[in-house]
Amino acid sequence: MINNDNDIILGFWKDIPKSCKILAPMADVTDVAFREMIVKYSRMGENGGGPHVLYTEFVAADGLFSDDGRTKLISLLQYNPKHRPIVAQIFSSDPKKMEYAAGLCRSLGFDGVDINMGCPERNVTKQGAGAAMIQTPERAKEIILAAKRGAVDIPVSVKTRIGWTKNEIETWIPEILSCNVAAIILHGRTRKEMSKVPAHWGIIARAGEIVRESGKETKFIGNGDILSLEQADAYGEKYKVDGVMVGRGIFGKPWFFDSQKKEVSVKEKLEIMLEHTRTFLKLLPNKNFQIMKKHYKAYISGFDGARELRGKCMEANSYEDIKKYVYDFLKKDN
Ligand SMILES: Cc1cc2nc3c(=O)[nH]c(=O)nc-3n(C[C@H](O)[C@H](O)[C@H](O)COP(=O)(O)O)c2cc1C
Repeated sequence: MINNDNDIILGFWKDIPKSCKILAPMADVTDVAFREMIVKYSRMGENGGGPHVLYTEFVAADGLFSDDGRTKLISLLQYNPKHRPIVAQIFSSDPKKMEYAAGLCRSLGFDGVDINMGCPERNVTKQGAGAAMIQTPERAKEIILAAKRGAVDIPVSVKTRIGWTKNEIETWIPEILSCNVAAIILHGRTRKEMSKVPAHWGIIARAGEIVRESGKETKFIGNGDILSLEQADAYGEKYKVDGVMVGRGIFGKPWFFDSQKKEVSVKEKLEIMLEHTRTFLKLLPNKNFQIMKKHYKAYISGFDGARELRGKCMEANSYEDIKKYVYDFLKKDN
């Protein structure tokens, strides 16, 4: 079967379990190194945990389209087969480039392609991509159909927001559905709201009704402010979604999806942080080390002495520095 305008290729989405939990795409966070940590320290779907699906961070299809750009960006599309099912997230407002990039993701072996129609950042929306797509539904549909052509036989999904400045789901969700996508992932805020207000789960629930009323097989995933597996299960049930996507809740907690893990000692946490740093340096040698600082902020919090250690690590410029600060801290502590 290939992706025709009228067909829905569900691919792996067909088999996602009830109350499925998905790792959100996050630029400079859910890179291959952090995903390695997540699959190692979470239980990959056992015991109701997860994650049942992983996403890459978003990648510019326009960049992938040129030889130079592809050389620079290809490291963002690294994955380990252990990350399956793994979805590549791409964005563009140019159908030709979208089709090409979706084809590239398929040839790299991804299980699915997701189109970013939710990014609020100006450098993306001014190109007409990301959340700007909500304002140009005709163009958005061209982009989805182009991605489906490029993806050939792997599923195409759309991750988006509830509107640009106001709730537009009554018109926006049917526009996406008309392209017969495998899944819609809805972040419960408008572009204008960025991440500044609580996610509107009531609106997410209504969007889910629109999907069900359409009679299509499209899966519907809610996203916004989920901070624990228990909350993911409760929201999945209450707001009647096929799954829940988790973003910021996993910062500094690669074990987030492990339903068995209750307590993580400070020592264990800091050792995982060091392992994460080594993995980052090994797999992403060309990325800026400063990217790890976002993770350090999250790992080093909530325990005695965290503030001082965090301050030192935020100033560090190498793995050796970080290791020294951590071991000095652990020696002092024990
Ligand atoms: C640092 C950061 C980077 C993000 N990058 C992306 C991205 O590349 N693609 C995307 O669709 N959403 C991106 N998002 C949005 C998240 O995927 C998610 O929709 C949002 O954070 C709301 O979910 P949460 O409340 O669980 O964090 C990003 C969010 C953060 C905090």
